[in-house]
Amino acid sequence: MELSQIDPQIIVDDCPELILGQHLKTGGQKRVWRCAYKGKAYVMKALMVGQETRRRVRREIQVMRACASPYLPKFGPIPLRELGLKEGPKILYFLEEYIEGTPLASVYKPMPYAEVARLGLCLAEALATLATNGYLHRDVKPMNVIRKSPTHFILIDAGLALDPDGDAITMPGKVVGTRAYLSPDQITLPQKRLDIRSDFFCLGSVLYEAATGEHPFWNDETPKGDIIHNILSFECISPVRFNAHLPNPYATIILKLLRKNRDERYLDFKELHDALAPLVQDSPNRSLAKGESEASKRRNVERTSARDQGTSRRRI
Ligand SMILES: Nc1ncnc2c1ncn2[C@@H]1O[C@H](COP(=O)(O)OP(=O)(O)OP(=O)(O)O)[C@@H](O)[C@H]1O
Ligand SMILES: [Mg+2]
Repeated sequence: MELSQIDPQIIVDDCPELILGQHLKTGGQKRVWRCAYKGKAYVMKALMVGQETRRRVRREIQVMRACASPYLPKFGPIPLRELGLKEGPKILYFLEEYIEGTPLASVYKPMPYAEVARLGLCLAEALATLATNGYLHRDVKPMNVIRKSPTHFILIDAGLALDPDGDAITMPGKVVGTRAYLSPDQITLPQKRLDIRSDFFCLGSVLYEAATGEHPFWNDETPKGDIIHNILSFECISPVRFNAHLPNPYATIILKLLRKNRDERYLDFKELHDALAPLVQDSPNRSLAKGESEASKRRNVERTSARDQGTSRRRI
């Protein structure tokens, strides 16, 4: 049986207080539905049981329980449940706070630059909370961010979070994360040597895309071939090239996050926060992309979501 064949009704039969809502997504690992439990809205996430999925889901829950932040989701009211099906396989399911909003991958880009600054601050805060509790996210990408409002963004899906002192959730030497949003550190260093600067690089990729509508390592100006090669060796073009309206301080911050050498990035949350905070105060909340046609807006959204779902024509 495949993930897409999980029938939510068997979960409702197992947990009769659940009221099932809209199917939101079948992602790489999970099927996600909106639901209600005792009068409150949640998402229900279901996975096929496997050695790795079990560890990932436990890690995701462990992180939600340990890390309280307005920029991270909260674990729901029932413990993780494992359910055996008649056909043999087992599924895992759990509830998580429902975040009303839009996945960042589906938000029109370039985003107004005040929003880019807020996005940077919210994600930096989320990463700092994880790091304070000893975790790295390792999968910062537009599909794992929900835009609740123009000033509030939430980082979801800590299933790949690394706890350097705990069990590895993947085989040693195996690169984990989503190819287009990996950091050079994730590709070249042993997992145990990663630190918050790796997540900062991924944040740089997300902000670059938010500010320009282009991926820093996969656009018309980057070498064709393998995106991993570009992440490791191609110095990305200034975001101002793709968005002439972008104020210089934004470009400076994004390019510093994207330095190949992690010693040249922001070293900790405070340093990054001090760079981003003045932008939030200074920026008028206006569109970066004045005069852009509806058709090009649509193309942009389609391209972004195709890339994130791995269906882009170019190999990333
Ligand atoms: N707490 C939430 N509130 C609202 N929507 C959510 C929530 N969690 C997940 N979603 C939606 O479901 C999608 C998939 O969730 P999640 O990232 O946890 O699963 P996944 O299998 O890792 O997916 P992917 O491989 O695409 O990252 C998200 O991109 C988002 O659209
Ligand atoms: Mg995800």
